[in-house]
Amino acid sequence: MDLLYGATSAVRNVEFSLGRGRIAAITGQSGSGKSSLLYCLAGVLPVSSGEVQFDGRSLGSLNDEELSTLRRERFGFVFQYGELLPELTVEENAALPLWLAGKRKAEALAVAGEILGRLGLSDLRKRRPSQVSGGQSQRVAVARALVHRPAVVFADEPTGSLDSGNATAVLEEFLNLARSQGTAVVLVTHDNQVAHRADDCYVMCDGVLTTQVRETS
Ligand SMILES: Nc1ncnc2c1ncn2[C@@H]1O[C@H](COP(=O)(O)OP(=O)(O)O)[C@@H](O)[C@H]1O
Ligand SMILES: [Mg+2]
Repeated sequence: MDLLYGATSAVRNVEFSLGRGRIAAITGQSGSGKSSLLYCLAGVLPVSSGEVQFDGRSLGSLNDEELSTLRRERFGFVFQYGELLPELTVEENAALPLWLAGKRKAEALAVAGEILGRLGLSDLRKRRPSQVSGGQSQRVAVARALVHRPAVVFADEPTGSLDSGNATAVLEEFLNLARSQGTAVVLVTHDNQVAHRADDCYVMCDGVLTTQVRETS
């Protein structure tokens, strides 16, 4: 697949596939096209050529409603810059995908509360996004992306503003979901520690994705 922004070729001739329960890490310099690739894989942006398939169906063959339902119910996305809803509390933000899927509010909040607890955010449940730190809101965004146990999680530098303890807690959530639910995880990261735990490692350079052979250590 390819993605062009006008004359800029952000993703070039990329072939990528990921099976159930696997975690892929993508590293690469700033501007190399990592976020653009995630947007294409998650159906946030349509590809300029080629196609993206999920469960044997091409995302390009879905209408807007089918695509948004797929993204809402089967995918989870952690954006590079958080993007919580400012008018909702931390727990409401984290529970949103369940709520949208029709779960009762109390039930949705209870499930969200468990993940928030594992990410060390229990005390912040009732706060608004404006009342928590950057690293805390990043963890809320992780909780929101995982709360509905999606088939695929796309995470754009989800540990970028976290200290190593919190980065580990986030990584454990991804690993647990992959192992227990068969969730596939695509993780853009600068953190070698995180990349090291992935099943497959890739490097992006000028829009081109290459497989990284891992040094054993
Ligand atoms: N909306 C946009 N319009 C035009 N060019 C863009 C847009 N978003 C990103 N780019 C360009 O596409 C390339 C890849 O960007 P990006 O995917 O954000 O890289 P990364 O996430 O690896 O830092 C860069 O050259 C960037 O300037
Ligand atoms: Mg990026």
